[in-house]
Amino acid sequence: MATPRLKHPLDHVLDQAQRALETVFGSPPAARGNPAGDTPEVALDAAERRHAAGLMRINHVGEVCAQALYEGQAAVARDPATRDHLLEAAQEETDHLAWCADRLRELDSRPSLLNPVWYAGSYAIGALAGLRGDGWNLGFVVETERQVEAHLDEHLQTLPEADLRSRAILTTMKADEARHADNAEAAGARILPQPIPSVMAAASKLMKTVAYRL
Ligand SMILES: [Fe+2]
Ligand SMILES: [Fe+2]
Repeated sequence: MATPRLKHPLDHVLDQAQRALETVFGSPPAARGNPAGDTPEVALDAAERRHAAGLMRINHVGEVCAQALYEGQAAVARDPATRDHLLEAAQEETDHLAWCADRLRELDSRPSLLNPVWYAGSYAIGALAGLRGDGWNLGFVVETERQVEAHLDEHLQTLPEADLRSRAILTTMKADEARHADNAEAAGARILPQPIPSVMAAASKLMKTVAYRL
């Protein structure tokens, strides 16, 4: 009987590097159709278009960060079930990433120039959180997803009323993020103590301020 070939640690590093490059410089394909579908494109004036693009760039960066957090967390997860849980959620984040990239193109805009920096920082934070154990790992998912859900709600309020295509995308993303949090809770997440949630909120506020323009 053939013995399964064990992966060399270097293979893992190369896999991770490849995923990072795809996320930051490539355009990983979505597994599900874009929720904007046949939603009509309503004309936006220049200011509305710029604002919508700024918000969608923030959401695109958020998804780059989500990929990196999940990859970083999965890299150090102890229990294979936790790792699978993280990688499964990461697949849905890939859909979000692709949909936000589509919308940025439609708005004649571009993703953040700082995506390599956002990815590297989030990967390191994910791995650090994961090193504390799987309960913490899942707790970190819950806190992240809840904060993203609240933030998407805010964007749904401030997007131009007429930008129905961005709205359709964010509405689906919001439902997905809520499910990611619920699943992680059910899988045994622990509640993160302060100041961790506040520090996370401050870091994402900084990211949002920069990514709106850059
Ligand atoms: Fe997402
Ligand atoms: Fe999520």
